[in-house]
Amino acid sequence: MSKGQKETISKRKLGKTDIDITPIGQGVMQFAGGTTFMKFMYPALTDQQSNNIVKTALDNGINWFDTAEAYGFGLSEEKLAKGLQAANVDDKDVIIATKWMPMMRRARSIKKTIQNRLDHLSPYTIDLHQIHMPYSFSSFQKQFDAMADILNEGKIKSIGISNFSASQMTKAHDILAEKGLVLASNQVNYSLIKRKIETNGVLDAAKELGVTIISWSPLQSGILSGKFHKDEQLYNSLPSARRLRSKKQIRESQELINTMDSIADSHKSTIAQIALNWLVNFHGDTVVAIPGATKASQAESNGKAMSIKLTQNELNEIEEASRIFV
Ligand SMILES: NC(=O)c1ccc[n+]([C@@H]2O[C@H](COP(=O)([O-])OP(=O)(O)OC[C@H]3O[C@@H](n4cnc5c(N)ncnc54)[C@H](OP(=O)(O)O)[C@@H]3O)[C@@H](O)[C@H]2O)c1
Repeated sequence: MSKGQKETISKRKLGKTDIDITPIGQGVMQFAGGTTFMKFMYPALTDQQSNNIVKTALDNGINWFDTAEAYGFGLSEEKLAKGLQAANVDDKDVIIATKWMPMMRRARSIKKTIQNRLDHLSPYTIDLHQIHMPYSFSSFQKQFDAMADILNEGKIKSIGISNFSASQMTKAHDILAEKGLVLASNQVNYSLIKRKIETNGVLDAAKELGVTIISWSPLQSGILSGKFHKDEQLYNSLPSARRLRSKKQIRESQELINTMDSIADSHKSTIAQIALNWLVNFHGDTVVAIPGATKASQAESNGKAMSIKLTQNELNEIEEASRIFV
């Protein structure tokens, strides 16, 4: 993509912060492939492969990356920083989101671990720090007190959450509001075949509170590219952890894939691009997405998905074809 094209991708505010993000960011959980629990889903990537993914994402207009402490305990963060350095990117030109892992921990670990996050990401700084899930031993009050402290100390630029319900998100928002701070985002599983947030109050609450929804697994681990519908052998070659439950999703989404296939044809694009474009446009500016990639070609395709202009009729047609997943 040329520099001129890159500039036409309009950015959105991350919640009510002053941070500008592109509708699609790059998820880099795959950079911890081959290690910890990730080895059951993704193979290890060499530095050359991960550097390529980072550079290709940037070259195709993506301006932000999502990682986490839990992704290889610093490995994904480190490989991301290496990739950004290899691409000669300045800290001021990239947005980085990472996460604190609350499982079996107390809030004080937020302050204890923030320097590890910064060290792994060095020389890049943290624009968004998220509580990975609502499962700490400490109260929300204590967790957000700690997050507010590290924000006030200048160690992070904004605060987000992940996998929080509507009522948990509202509580997080209210605790931060009392301190004069905003809750930037809630990162949840949302895709054309996982539409629960449309009925469980999360999406409505996000719109009302001005919180950005960051969709994780926006392609439902690749299912929404249609590649497994077309090639059963490819599906059978997946590690078992990725095959879990997905056979049913593949069977039930055939009609949706057919609908997106014909829309993709008329836009000279792919099913995956249509699925991503729908996700980041159907609800206005509220939803952004962070597809993961194991290949640079996927980062290229996913970045280019931002430039497609679906008509309102096409957006509605896709919505109808996926209504069985609401
Ligand atoms: N907050 C949370 O609890 C949480 C949980 C999970 C993930 N996340 C975040 O969300 C990100 C994305 O989630 P995810 O990686 O699980 O799901 P995803 O983005 O739905 O799927 C990524 C996988 O889909 C395939 N893919 C990607 N682009 C493609 C394309 N253009 N065409 C065909 N196939 C394509 C690749 O599979 P192959 O490798 O098989 O080619 C890739 O590894 C993660 O990287 C992570 O940052 C957050």
